[in-house]
Amino acid sequence: MEPSEIAYLRWFKESLPVTHDLCDSCISGIAPKEIGIKSFKDIQSEDLGFNEFYPGSRDLLAEELRLPPEELYVAQGASPANFLVNMLLVEKGDTVLVESPVYEPLARLPEMFGAKVKYFERTYENNYQPDIEGLKEMIDDKTKLIVLTDLHNPSSVKLMDQNCFAIGDLADDHNVKVLVDEVYRDAVSITRVSGLSRLSPNIIATNSFTKSYGMAGLRYGWIEAESSFIQKLRVFQNYHVVVHPQVPDMIARKAIPKMAKLRARTHSILEPNYKIIRGWLQNHPYLEQLPAVTPAGVTVFPRFKPKYRGVDTVKLVHHLIVRENMAVVPGHFFRAPGHIRLGLGKKTPKEFKRLLPILDRGLKTWFDHK
Ligand SMILES: Cc1ncc(COP(=O)(O)O)c(C=O)c1O
Repeated sequence: MEPSEIAYLRWFKESLPVTHDLCDSCISGIAPKEIGIKSFKDIQSEDLGFNEFYPGSRDLLAEELRLPPEELYVAQGASPANFLVNMLLVEKGDTVLVESPVYEPLARLPEMFGAKVKYFERTYENNYQPDIEGLKEMIDDKTKLIVLTDLHNPSSVKLMDQNCFAIGDLADDHNVKVLVDEVYRDAVSITRVSGLSRLSPNIIATNSFTKSYGMAGLRYGWIEAESSFIQKLRVFQNYHVVVHPQVPDMIARKAIPKMAKLRARTHSILEPNYKIIRGWLQNHPYLEQLPAVTPAGVTVFPRFKPKYRGVDTVKLVHHLIVRENMAVVPGHFFRAPGHIRLGLGKKTPKEFKRLLPILDRGLKTWFDHK
């Protein structure tokens, strides 16, 4: 097996840090005290040699998500969760249908397991909703898996309810598995809305505490799926981690009862920043307004106006880094070159208002020069 480079993550690691970072797709990190941890003693009652075969957080999380525990598997983040799902489902010669624009690892993973990836478009014109009829037409007897995100990364648009149900029907009618990466979904509202795995036994959802909950460093995520799939994951567990890491599990036990409070915190960070972004994009010289379906997550994905859409966003962002010590993510890395992605989750409204004119100045010097 030869993993190919994930260009986006390589760029990310090589280009950052910068002074003015508008790339980050996480919400600001929480302090341990926000989930009731003041000292190590608050999480670790046993000595560090203590081993539990099942992560103690699982039942707590299942209760919080209103899922039977046998439909839940705890993983070390959404990325390992996505890896495990692909590993169990995808084989050489399969076809996997992946959304575009896409978070690149979601396409590279099935390729790494030998599948051919075909992309289905989520266009600006269609408010980044998938074209369900078009998707159905792409399914054939080689199609093993369909992969999409909700909220959509990069646009942060939520799947409309009618499309969630249509994807459930499609998974049942064609007997095809669907992987929905829901890592941004809990940013959408304070009351958690159940994920797509509830709509069909063929839908598998992945999630984590990274994006919407401000705990990227914890490495705590999960998989929601019907019980026979979860059972396979349990079997596989003995091939790799055997037992789950203890410290993230202990911290998760503190965080799980606070999930609603953390979502309220996320909401309170994002809402004012969305207002600022909308105002900024009104009559913007280079960028269009956001699509009509209101994005709700940690990122926005503005598109350049037609006259500027041919811009090489990788070069443009390089210019921003060199000239302004500022970075946004080039749309190129999501297969959507005429866009840039901005993160809203780590700045206060005041910082945001200060940074957007710097971004505008960088855009102006680039386009004036062209
Ligand atoms: C769609 C998507 N899934 C997963 C991840 C990573 O999640 P985790 O840190 O839980 O592995 C990212 C990070 O950018 C992402 O955009």
